[in-house]
Amino acid sequence: MIKHDSIEKSLPLMVIMIVIALSWGGLVEIVPLAFDKNTTEPVDGLKPLSALELEGRDVYIREGCHVCHTQMVRPFRAETERYGPYSQSGEHVYEHPFLWGSKRTGPDLARVGGRYSDDWHRAHMYNPRDVVPESIMPSYPWLFTNTVDGRLTPRKMRALRTLGVPYTDDDIEGAKAAVDGRTEIDALIAYMQQLGTAITKR
Ligand code: HEC
Repeated sequence: MIKHDSIEKSLPLMVIMIVIALSWGGLVEIVPLAFDKNTTEPVDGLKPLSALELEGRDVYIREGCHVCHTQMVRPFRAETERYGPYSQSGEHVYEHPFLWGSKRTGPDLARVGGRYSDDWHRAHMYNPRDVVPESIMPSYPWLFTNTVDGRLTPRKMRALRTLGVPYTDDDIEGAKAAVDGRTEIDALIAYMQQLGTAITKR
């Protein structure tokens, strides 16, 4: 038996014991989550993003929207009153990578789907100050002229399918035609309008 005294007096032993204790604590917390249906199974009504929504998500990532906006309503009264039902793991199982974010310069967007009209989003993305005078959000006028290039869309969907997103062959075959010629703003708004709706539209 190692006496506690001797652990405390030996730095290497202390380090090893701390690592063992922390790893065990971490494993006990994290491993069961990987087997818990609440965290691994999609919530009822969750659908994979359509081709256009998927391209919109890529615009969202490219423009760094996730740097100012989270997509994660925490289970606190102040948050659920403002944004709607708190986020659940099962809503995010088809997301690779997650866009939960970690910094709110702007409001959380996890439940923004359906909150505003498409026209409101257009005006807001073109120049946020036209609809929210005190806004510090940047303008994104180029999204109105850039068009989506659909050549890569089927490949993106195939890659996501290997990660478990249930795209059908038909989804993938029709992807290029579904996005070609659409503007990036169309794609981004399609993406925003579905955010969080698997739960709120039930
Ligand atoms: C520099 C930080 C910043 C960046 C980058 C940013 N936003 Fe914002 N956003 C804000 C702020 C601040 C607000 C609140 C004022 C307003 O509504 O304009 C906001 C508001 C919003 C709203 C309204 C949310 C609500 O519930 O009222 C939406 C939607 C939105 N942003 C989408 C986007 C998208 C999409 C992008 C990327 C193309 C983006 N934002 C990039 C700061 C940012």
